[in-house]
Amino acid sequence: MEDERFVDPKKSNEDADFESDIRPRRLDDYIGQTAVKDNFRVFIEAAEGRKEALDHVLLYGPPGLGKTTLAYILANELGVDIRATSGPAMERSGDLAAILTNLENRGVFFVDEIHRMNRTVEEVLYPAMEDFALDLIIGKGPGARTVKLDLPSFTLIGATTRMGLLSSPFRDRFGVIFRLEFYTVEELKRIIRRSGGILQVDLDPGAADEIAKRSRGTPRIANRLLRRARDFAQVRGDGVITLEVARHTLEKLEIDERGFDRMDRHVLQTVIEKFGGGPVGIDTIAAAIGEERDTIEDICEPYLLQEGFLQRTPRGRQATEAAYRHLGLEPSGSKEDQKDLFKA
Ligand SMILES: Nc1ncnc2c1ncn2[C@@H]1O[C@H](COP(=O)(O)OP(=O)(O)OP(=O)(O)O)[C@@H](O)[C@H]1O
Ligand SMILES: [Mg+2]
Repeated sequence: MEDERFVDPKKSNEDADFESDIRPRRLDDYIGQTAVKDNFRVFIEAAEGRKEALDHVLLYGPPGLGKTTLAYILANELGVDIRATSGPAMERSGDLAAILTNLENRGVFFVDEIHRMNRTVEEVLYPAMEDFALDLIIGKGPGARTVKLDLPSFTLIGATTRMGLLSSPFRDRFGVIFRLEFYTVEELKRIIRRSGGILQVDLDPGAADEIAKRSRGTPRIANRLLRRARDFAQVRGDGVITLEVARHTLEKLEIDERGFDRMDRHVLQTVIEKFGGGPVGIDTIAAAIGEERDTIEDICEPYLLQEGFLQRTPRGRQATEAAYRHLGLEPSGSKEDQKDLFKA
């Protein structure tokens, strides 16, 4: 059995059930991402004023930051239906046609993992995005003919963790492109308190703070840690998530004070101990720790980069001084720095 990585921001089945209860449904309940929200309030009002569909939206950023949640909120705020699918699920252009022809006017078509969409389907989508029409090829061989199919106007909302994998003609067809950012501890605290309220768990303020600090800036992780702390509180305590219970939970899950788990530390350790602190290529790191390159790039790396523990250089990834210090090691760059000092 594959052992589940606890701070993996990717969704598990358990998350799915739990998330449906605590997922915010209105922009006002969507915590943080203030600039994005403010923009959407304007765009929604403007589109409604013109009685048009909202322009196509592309949301990108690491997993668990609220892209899917935001897509559903936008549909809700627009007062329209949403049809959801994912890039890999649409294998043929017929799959796309089936969904698009069934959309309501100004409805939302949500495509998760849009970077994994088949190229031929992608090209059929272009005229749909631009002119709300589909050019379908009926039949095969010399008897084949194209028919133009008119569609209702709609808003495509695409979500991706890998903006770089989207072709530029595709990207250019989105009128609104936003990157979701990692959340601050304050914002995560609000999310945890909100979820705790919905789940009716007793949560001490100190505990909310501790969980927030160790959630890697990610609401999905914050909610998952809350859930585990609730388990510990129920089985080992009196049901109250105290600071002590929160700390105990985090310790059991081997999540350190920066929110790093075993895999994060393993990546940093590998770069430092096996490759002298780097720079080292991502494929080499992946091979050394026996993980998929994608897992490291999508899940581990964004937070390590953002927090300044890893640096991306043209020659690969490099551990920073903060990484050495975090692991209780001496930075290796110090000798060279001294050389530079003497030169100056
Ligand atoms: N801004 C927010 N305010 C409150 N809760 C949030 C917010 N963003 C996300 N969440 C919570 O975090 C959970 C994960 O969010 P969501 O599924 O939207 O992430 P995602 O970016 O789509 O992730 P993935 O890339 O894995 O699909 C949601 O169920 C929701 O409860
Ligand atoms: Mg999602």
